[in-house]
Amino acid sequence: MSERKLYDISLTVNDREVKGRVKAETTLLDFLRSNNFTEVKKGCEIGDCGACTVIMDGEAVLSCITLALQAEGSKVYTVKSLGTWEKLHPLQKAFVEHEALQCGFCTPGMLMTAKAFLDKNPHPTRDEIREAISGNLCRCTGYKKIVDAIEAVSKREAE
Ligand code: FES
Ligand code: FES
Repeated sequence: MSERKLYDISLTVNDREVKGRVKAETTLLDFLRSNNFTEVKKGCEIGDCGACTVIMDGEAVLSCITLALQAEGSKVYTVKSLGTWEKLHPLQKAFVEHEALQCGFCTPGMLMTAKAFLDKNPHPTRDEIREAISGNLCRCTGYKKIVDAIEAVSKREAE
């Protein structure tokens, strides 16, 4: 049997150049996790749960249904790009203040969806926030505190 063809790719992740060799079917999720970006979570792997959300060239994307090859030359950001323990991103701070933090599987994706959303729509309505976060599934929340946290950031930035 012949060897499967491998393709060279190069992209930046959290502003760091990452190169690799991938199969045509390698997902961006697997590529990221195999390069130690394990903060990108593997949930359903079929595009349903939002746990694997990263920001690619300004758009929130589901890395489990994005091919690594599609990310060639792009700028990808994971939740680790947001802030540090010493200097939390306003969204991370608001999630803490509003008790909106859920588990380590769903929260990274929620934060990245919220970040990409507020970057495009800094002053959304609550309904728009609900809609934006609707692809990030968690059966353990009523979403109110998450919407409160995102809304608080949008209001704070308007001050
Ligand atoms: S792991 Fe990608 S959407 Fe669930
Ligand atoms: S899936 Fe993370 S707390 Fe519900």
